[in-house]
Order: sequence, then structure tokens, then C-alpha cells
Amino acid sequence: MAALTALAPRRGADLLTAFDRVRSGSRALAAPLSDADATVQSMPDASPAKWHLAHTTWFFETMVLKPNAPGYRVFDESFNYLFNSYYDSVGERQPRPRRGMITRPHLDRVTEYRAHVDGAVEDLLYGGVEPPVAELIELGLHHEQQHQELLLTDILHLFAQSPLKPAYRDPSPLPVRAATGEAGWVAFDGGIVEIGHDGRGFAYDCEGPRHQALIQPFRLADRCVTNGEWLDFMADGGYRDPLLWLSDGWAQILEHRWSAPLYWEERDGEWWAMTLRGMQPIDRDAPVAHVSYFEADAYAAWAGKRLPTEFEWERAAEGLSKDGNFAGGGLGRLRPRPAGAAGSGLRQMFGDVWEWTRSAFAPYPGFRPAAGAVGEYNGKFMNGQYVLRGGSCATPEGHIRATYRNFFQPDKRWQFSGLRLAEDA
Ligand SMILES: [Fe+2]
Repeated sequence: MAALTALAPRRGADLLTAFDRVRSGSRALAAPLSDADATVQSMPDASPAKWHLAHTTWFFETMVLKPNAPGYRVFDESFNYLFNSYYDSVGERQPRPRRGMITRPHLDRVTEYRAHVDGAVEDLLYGGVEPPVAELIELGLHHEQQHQELLLTDILHLFAQSPLKPAYRDPSPLPVRAATGEAGWVAFDGGIVEIGHDGRGFAYDCEGPRHQALIQPFRLADRCVTNGEWLDFMADGGYRDPLLWLSDGWAQILEHRWSAPLYWEERDGEWWAMTLRGMQPIDRDAPVAHVSYFEADAYAAWAGKRLPTEFEWERAAEGLSKDGNFAGGGLGRLRPRPAGAAGSGLRQMFGDVWEWTRSAFAPYPGFRPAAGAVGEYNGKFMNGQYVLRGGSCATPEGHIRATYRNFFQPDKRWQFSGLRLAEDA
């Protein structure tokens, strides 16, 4: 977990401000939702919004308040079973695929739960907290931001199942940037590079320890692969040529009949996609999103390129501005945005779409999970998943870092996952 060894004296006040901002951000994200919207679960991978709101609160109650706030009154003893996600050391829990069965408590009761826990954490912060407790609160805030993104992607998946295809936000057309044009290439030298978080400021445990890695000379595309390019891949039979696909990916094609990214739909010869702003025509210049690792890898094979490793990506992202198209409290564009005209360097490294890398989510040399329940946060997921980098249009502003490692199984498509091509130099 975070390496926050030297907390400045004003830390408590900063943390209180951050706590209020993140917690109210979740409330704002849920504001457009009815109790029914917030309760239904559309698939085992997705969770109801109500569950996200309660689970993030449970995290503060369980990790911060119970062990560190003397006299804290647990809001409802049954919530530990309902809203524990995957912490085996904390006890039994509602099975993940059945979170949608939690029709009670009502959303209002979850709102009361949030207020109860918010008050207790704020009291704790007003009284001053030791660095280890501050670290846990900070972890809880970053955890909640992760769930804010999941809340959006899970709502999109839910609304995509509705015959009405409702819009989460105003569906009115958004200004489109100038045409993106051909991708350019940026060359990087090979050599020994420093990878991982340096311990200054917050990072998840899996981002460290910082260590040396050897990379070969490589080139990285200066923008993400676009919807227009994806249409070319589709038109060229990309989804029908087994020679382009990893074996497990081809099995997915056969089983699920994939022929386009998730949420795409052909209407009278034109492609549309379900978005958080309802059904929208495909924007040819915007990055393709909602593709699996298997699809990203097949596309790269078709293009005669490859996906970057996470080390190459991190090397390329070092020192770049983290400005980008992020969720901004749910009020952002909420769709990937065209890169616009080429500049002198890499575009879209942060925001828009998470970029699949060809790197397995594995421990860095010297990695040790933290002691106790928070040690279950990342370490136990280090098998069968691939790393994605850079954040998306659903990622909360300020949540991302160059060293940030997101991870999903290679068949998952419901996140804003896209790709950027790489090649050996
Ligand atoms: Fe969680």
C-alpha cells in the first residue's frame, strides 16, 4: 500500500478536504439513478450502483473505523455480509453474482449509512490521526475512486440491456474535434529503465517496488487506435480470421459470436454504440473502446504491430502531463474523444481509454502485500490478468499516475478499454 511515511502537519486538513470531495463525488454520480437503476445487476462482473455506494462505505467502516475509532457504533451488523467484496479475512459475504438480489436495504438506507460513516471518519480526522490511519483513509479514497469508475461502467452495461437504451447523462451531441489523421510514431531507446512508483505520494502496493527493467528500442503510436481503423479491421474480416487470434481469444469468438466491440450495433448500414449518453453514431476519429485483450491483440496482429509492454508504456509516459479526458465527477464527456491534430509527441496517453498492454499483472521484484486485510487489495489478483495503463473517460480526474496498473482478465470488454500500437525499433 501507500508509502506515506512522512505526513506533513497539514495532512489532516488536506485529507478531510479530499475525503469530502471524493465522498460527495460518489453521491453526485448516483444522483441521476432511481432505486431500481441502483439495485439491478446486469451481469456477474458488474455491481449495482447501490452496492458500490455501500461497499466503499463498508471499506471505511471496516478498515478505518472499527480498528481505530474508539466507541464507533457499527451502523448495521448485517452490512458486513452484504457489502464485503472479496476480503476473505474479514468474513463471509454475499456471492458477487448475486449482489443484485440485495433489494433491501433501500437506497435511502444506504445513503444514511454513508452519512453515518462520513460523520465518524470526519470526527476521527478532526481529532487528528496517526500516519498509519491517514494511509488507510487515503487508500479508502483511492478505492472509492476506483468504484466511481466501476459505477459508471456498470451503469452503462445495465442501461445497454434496456430496450429503451436510456442515457445516463444528457444525450445531446458533443462538440467534435478536428479529424485525427494517420497515427505517427515516437521512437524510444532501449536500455535499463527505472519502473514503478518512487514512494512519493500515494500509490497502490502493486505499483512498487521501483526497480530496474531492461527494454529494447521500440516505437509507440502517438495516439490510440480509432473506431475508423477498427471498422477497417472488421471490414477486412478481422473477426473471422483465426490466424490473427490467440487460441483463447478465438474460443471467445466461437462461443460469443463477437463481430464488433461491445455495445456496437449496426442500423441500416451505419454503426452506432451505446454510451453513457445513450445510443450515438460511431465517431470514426475517437479511440475504439470496449474491446477485450484478445481483440486488441488480434487487431495488432492484423496491423502488423504489437501491443506495448507495460514497461514500454511507463517509460513513454514518464514526465508527460496527466491532462486528459477524464470523468470529472461524472460531468465530463463520458466518451473517448478524438485525439485531434498531431503534435510533436504522444497524445491520449492519459484519459479516453485504458490501454491494454501485453504484460501480465504480476508482482514486481521484491513485492510484498501489506499485512492484514488490506493485503488482499491487489496481490491476490496477480494471476490470469493483463495490465492496462493510462485511465479512461470514466476515471475520476486526478486518480491516475504514470505508474498506475489497472488489470482485467483478457476477455473483459465492459470497461473503457482500448489500445495503442507498438513495434520493435
Ligand atoms: Fe472494492
